[in-house]
Amino acid sequence: MANVLITGASGFIGSFLVDEGLKQGLEVYAGIRKSSSRGYLQDKRIQFLEFDFSSREKVLVTLDECKKNNIRFKYIIHNAGLTKAQKKEDFYNVNCRNTIHFIEALKEADMVPEKFLFVSSLAAYGPGNPDTGEPVRNTHEPKPIELYGKSKLEAERYITSLTGFPWLIVRPTGVYGPKEKDYFIFFQTINRGLEPYIGFKKQVLTFIYVRDLVRLIFLALASQHVNKAWFVSDGKEYPSELFAEITKKALGKKTLRFTVPLFLVKTIATIGERVTGLWGSIPTLNTDKYNVLKSTNWRCEVEPLEKDFGFKAEYDLEKGVAEALAWYKKEHWL
Ligand SMILES: NC(=O)c1ccc[n+]([C@@H]2O[C@H](COP(=O)([O-])OP(=O)(O)OC[C@H]3O[C@@H](n4cnc5c(N)ncnc54)[C@H](OP(=O)(O)O)[C@@H]3O)[C@@H](O)[C@H]2O)c1
Repeated sequence: MANVLITGASGFIGSFLVDEGLKQGLEVYAGIRKSSSRGYLQDKRIQFLEFDFSSREKVLVTLDECKKNNIRFKYIIHNAGLTKAQKKEDFYNVNCRNTIHFIEALKEADMVPEKFLFVSSLAAYGPGNPDTGEPVRNTHEPKPIELYGKSKLEAERYITSLTGFPWLIVRPTGVYGPKEKDYFIFFQTINRGLEPYIGFKKQVLTFIYVRDLVRLIFLALASQHVNKAWFVSDGKEYPSELFAEITKKALGKKTLRFTVPLFLVKTIATIGERVTGLWGSIPTLNTDKYNVLKSTNWRCEVEPLEKDFGFKAEYDLEKGVAEALAWYKKEHWL
């Protein structure tokens, strides 16, 4: 039976990747940390492997165990990553350095898989041109606007510099769905009857529902493609008001709409950063977040997904939000 190792298996996207791998009849190894929750990993068929990516030597400890047990991976999905961090250096350490340690250890242990798929992010390229509204494309020069995106880009640069290494890269836009915790805050805010906007310029957002993303990832692994990268979205564009409209409709809520001016957000972010910076940490609202919030064009190209995999998203925002909200309600998050 073909197998797959999924790192970051305990998280939001990781747990859906595990479910999809099992659904596809693969033997699934969930790469987790000692401290990771196994709450979303209850299927008896899942095999667990504990990894410490903080050094090549520590990764080798787990890989050597695998070798002793005759485990070689056909596919690896390196999904472990940090989207939020307490300290600035955490982004680089987890998203880039850990990836380097992992790949160096795979090479040293002679355990390079048939395909190594790195879960990057649209953030590695940054938003599109606000004046032309053109989608971000593979041919564009990457212009990440925050540390998270920069750390993903650094990891991509290392991966794409390798020779004889069968990498694939996906760069999803905002991923939403059951278990997700960031868009959930927005859903919660609408549910409480508030509809906040930041800045007066129109923002165009893009999304991908988690089930579509994991389906695409397994299509990429099974395809003939190698050493190639794709942006991933559902192919539609959503002005931020539409995101709110869809959520309000699904929740059956009326809201109080208000706009927080950009200068105020920037002031709060800058002061917060100076104060918490004294302790070496990053506040939730920081200048990186401000840069993301003020960007108006989050379109990305999706034509290559259809051309290379015949991929079309099964979920648009309306269908995905309805399913996600039903899950949040069932689990009493809302
Ligand atoms: N959510 C999005 O909108 C989005 C968009 C584009 C790309 N991505 C990428 O998708 C991947 C998964 O994101 P997610 O949204 O599912 O986030 P998540 O729910 O926070 O999951 C992150 C996963 O990475 C693991 N991880 C974090 N730090 C680690 C470390 N130092 N060593 C080993 N494992 C570590 C976590 O393990 P623990 O459970 O032990 O903490 C968890 O399993 C990330 O690479 C992220 O950059 C996400």
